[in-house]
Amino acid sequence: MRVLAFETTCDETSASVLEGGSLRSNAVYTQIELHRKYSGVVPELASRAHLEKMPYVLGSALKQAGLKVPLKKGCVDAVAFSRGPGLPGALMVGRVAAGAAAELIGAPLVGVNHLEGHLLACEFEKGRASRPLEFPLLALIVSGGHTEIWHAKGYGDYKVLGRTRDDAAGEAFDKVAKLLGLPYPGGPEVEREAAKAKGPCPEFPRPLLPGTRDFSFSGLKTAVSYYLAGRLGTDFYKRKLRLPPADRARVCRSFQDAAVETLVKKTSDAARSLGLTRIAVGGGVSANGALREAFGKLEGFEVRFSERAYCSDNAAMVALCAMRRLEAGKYRNSVNVAPELDEPGWRG
Ligand code: KG4
Ligand code: ZN
Repeated sequence: MRVLAFETTCDETSASVLEGGSLRSNAVYTQIELHRKYSGVVPELASRAHLEKMPYVLGSALKQAGLKVPLKKGCVDAVAFSRGPGLPGALMVGRVAAGAAAELIGAPLVGVNHLEGHLLACEFEKGRASRPLEFPLLALIVSGGHTEIWHAKGYGDYKVLGRTRDDAAGEAFDKVAKLLGLPYPGGPEVEREAAKAKGPCPEFPRPLLPGTRDFSFSGLKTAVSYYLAGRLGTDFYKRKLRLPPADRARVCRSFQDAAVETLVKKTSDAARSLGLTRIAVGGGVSANGALREAFGKLEGFEVRFSERAYCSDNAAMVALCAMRRLEAGKYRNSVNVAPELDEPGWRG
C-alpha cells in the first residue's frame, strides 16, 4: 500500500510518501525563521507560507519517492491530510493540495487527526513503521497547542482522560522562553539553557491539580513571571530587562523540572489507576531530553517515544495514520477541515 500525505496544521509544511510501512520521503519545510521575530506563530503568515512552499515541498517528496509528474491514475492507494486540530487557514492549504492530488490520482482522500499522528509516530524506526504500538496503552500527547492523555485501546479507539485547561506544555515552554528573552520556539532553547544550570535553583510549583486528570500550565508560567518581576522589577518585560546568563539557566532548569515532573506524575498516575503498563509519548515536547530521562526512570512501565526526527510536525505520521486505517478497513471518510477537532478516534 502506498500513501501520499500532507501536513499543514501549524508552522511546518510537509509532504510524505509511505509505501508498505517504509518511508520513501518525508519533506518538511519549517517556518520557524518566519515566525521568530514575532516570538510565536502568526496564523495569517503561516497560511501564506504554506501556500507558497507547498508546491516545492510536494515536488521534493514526490521526486525523492521516485513518483513521476504528472501523477498517473492509481500511483498511490490513498491521499491523506491532517484535518485538525490546527490553524484554520493553514489546514485548508493541506486540504486543497490533498484534494487535488486525490482527484488527479483517483485515490480516496483520508482526513486524519494530527494528534493521533503524533502518537503513531512512535512506530517509526529508521524510516520504517516497524515497531507497531501494543495496546492497550496510555498516550501522552505534548505539543505546542495540546497536552492530552488518552486511554488507547487500539488503533482509532481512544478515550480522552484529561487535557490542558489553559496553556499547552509546549506553549508554556515557548512563553517562559519569551519572558527570558530567548528565541522562538522556546522548548529547545529552555532545554539547552537548563543543561547549563549550576548551584541552587529557584523553586516553582508543580501544577498537579489533584482530583482531575486535566493539566494546567499557565500558573507555572505566571510563577516564572512573578519571579522575574521580583528580581528585575514589574516592568521587566516592557523594558527588556534580562537575568544574568547563570541565573537564566537556573530558571530554565527549575521550570523544566516542574513541567516534566508534572507530566510524568499525572501520566503515570493515570496509567496506574487503569492498570496500564504501557505508555507512549508523542508531540514536539516529547523531544525533550529531561522528559525522556524522567519517563525512563519510571519503574513498572514500558515507555515509548518517537525518534526525535518525528516528534515535531511531519507528514510521515499522517501517512502512517491513514495506512493503519486502511489496513483495518474501518475509517469514515472525514474530509472537512476541523480546526477544533477534539475527537481523536476514527469516528472523528
Ligand atoms: O508537535 P509540535 O511540533 O507542533 C504542534 O503540534 O504544536 O510541537 C511544537 C512545540 C513547541 O511549543 C516547541 O517549543 C516544543 O514543541 N518543543 C520542545 C522541544 N522541542 C520542541 N519543548 C521542550 N523541549 C524540547 N526539546
Ligand atoms: Zn503537532
